[in-house]
Amino acid sequence: MAGLRFEGREAKTQNKAVSRRILIGAGMLVGFATMHLWVQGQDPTKGSRDPAAWGGDHVGEGHPEYMTGGECLFCHGKTVGANWQKNSHALSIRLPGEESAEAKALAPFLNEGAQLDYLLGGDRVVRYLRRGKGYGKVDLHSHRWNPHARTLVQGKAGWESQTFGKNCAGCHATAVDSNSQSFSSLGIDCYACHGEMNPGHTDDPALMLLSPKGRDSARVITSICASCHLRTGQSRSTGRPYPNHFVPGDNLFRDFEVSFDQNLIKALNPSDRHILENVRGVVLNGRESPTCLSCHDVHRSSMSRHEKLDKNSKLCATCHESKSGKWTVKTYEVHSNVCGY
Ligand code: HEC
Ligand code: HEC
Ligand code: HEC
Ligand code: HEC
Ligand code: HEC
Ligand code: HEC
Repeated sequence: MAGLRFEGREAKTQNKAVSRRILIGAGMLVGFATMHLWVQGQDPTKGSRDPAAWGGDHVGEGHPEYMTGGECLFCHGKTVGANWQKNSHALSIRLPGEESAEAKALAPFLNEGAQLDYLLGGDRVVRYLRRGKGYGKVDLHSHRWNPHARTLVQGKAGWESQTFGKNCAGCHATAVDSNSQSFSSLGIDCYACHGEMNPGHTDDPALMLLSPKGRDSARVITSICASCHLRTGQSRSTGRPYPNHFVPGDNLFRDFEVSFDQNLIKALNPSDRHILENVRGVVLNGRESPTCLSCHDVHRSSMSRHEKLDKNSKLCATCHESKSGKWTVKTYEVHSNVCGY
């Protein structure tokens, strides 16, 4: 109990490391008190923990200097580099290539001398970006490419200068400054998942977040992936649909608010739904497994891990049905209001 007496007025004058430790202590007490409740009962949010009750955050503080992917790959090129070029996190924002069908389709709508700098998107929709005015800004074109029909779908606004910074940057760029809505790199860099490089990690790899040799808690892993993969949340401090200065290792849920209401979750497509259900299990019900990494191998873009898990887990039913002894995958489409597809 010794640490708890600092809470309240005094806690504010303590340095961050100290007050963080106190919060972790307090969070554990709340956790133990409610633990017996969440194993019973039907309502998944009943007897739940306060998702905000552990760890620290960097809300309003900004991002630390971080090592960029090029520098990491100087040492990790051999094992990580080749796969990384094919990973959808790395490919999501890319150069257009003048001869690509996407670029050719937009060309008639570009003024003389105007340019297209990047494409954003995957199998469902592709958006157009160009360098914006000022550091860490891009403009987003309202036209979009439909990869299935291979046609251009026209929007009204043309180039928009505010939209990407206000509504997209936090999840499609790295180290976004919530105040200026500018990013330090476009696309998703190593830092977005692994956080700051610990110089000692070359001798003790477990010092890096997400190291397979480390023992990151489920809530730390979940905060990292959920910092982009919760597409129904909002930052309390900025009102933006992305987190305010989230640094891996932080507790996302101190500032990022998301509803775990069962009716809302049920209405989502299975892709967004299984993410929210998994996050709920970890941050609200205190489960240590599964986490995203029980099923997803990020660097190898593989989901084969998930096939070996217990088929009776509730999470399976989000995507699978067991019909007369046959294990089938439900068919579904993925749409997102936040991403506009
Ligand atoms: C000076 C070279 C060097 C740089 C720069 C470097 N690393 Fe490492 N890293 C290593 C070595 C050496 C190891 C330990 C051996 C191993 O597991 O590959 C390691 C281990 C790791 C591990 C754990 C691997 C495991 O198997 O558990 C991760 C994750 C990691 N590095 C990520 C990064 C990231 C992200 C960056 C950039 C922010 C980075 N490293 C920069 C040399 C480096
Ligand atoms: C809360 C984080 C978040 C915000 C904010 C966000 N996105 Fe996304 N976006 C994602 C994630 C995560 C995916 C990948 C989803 C998946 O693969 O299931 C994605 C996917 C996409 C895709 C690829 C779709 C495909 O698979 O073809 C496009 C294009 C996109 N977003 C555009 C936008 C635009 C434009 C905005 C702003 C108007 C935006 N997003 C805002 C997180 C976000
Ligand atoms: C989208 C999140 C994400 C990004 C971005 C990311 N990693 Fe990882 N990385 C992971 C996860 C998750 C693991 C742990 C793998 C596991 O245990 O399933 C990992 C593992 C590693 C490992 C250990 C060896 C391995 O392959 O499992 C190294 C080294 C590494 N990452 C380096 C990097 C470097 C360098 C970059 C940037 C070029 C990078 N990572 C970008 C999520 C990410
Ligand atoms: C900085 C934002 C960000 C973070 C952090 C992040 N993702 Fe993603 N992730 C994305 C975006 C954006 C896409 C979609 C790329 C596209 O299709 O255009 C994506 C795609 C994916 C996909 C589908 C494609 C594939 O490779 O299979 C999976 C699975 C995924 N992420 C899992 C994870 C996991 C697990 C973590 C945590 C270790 C994580 N992501 C962290 C933004 C992020
Ligand atoms: C029980 C296993 C399991 C867990 C836990 C899990 N996933 Fe998934 N996830 C899957 C499977 C299997 C798919 C494949 C769906 C497909 O291929 O269409 C998937 C699909 C996805 C996709 C869409 C991939 C695409 O290409 O459209 C994303 C993004 C994703 N998961 C992210 C996450 C994140 C983030 C977490 C943690 C919060 C997580 N998942 C937890 C099994 C899981
Ligand atoms: C996000 C959706 C999603 C979730 C959640 C999910 N799966 Fe899957 N699963 C898929 C998809 C999609 C495939 C098909 C992959 C393919 O065809 O390559 C699949 C394939 C499989 C397969 C191998 C193919 C088959 O039909 O026999 C098994 C086994 C499996 N899943 C088990 C599970 C178990 C166990 C769980 C729960 C712990 C689970 N899945 C949760 C989407 C999901």
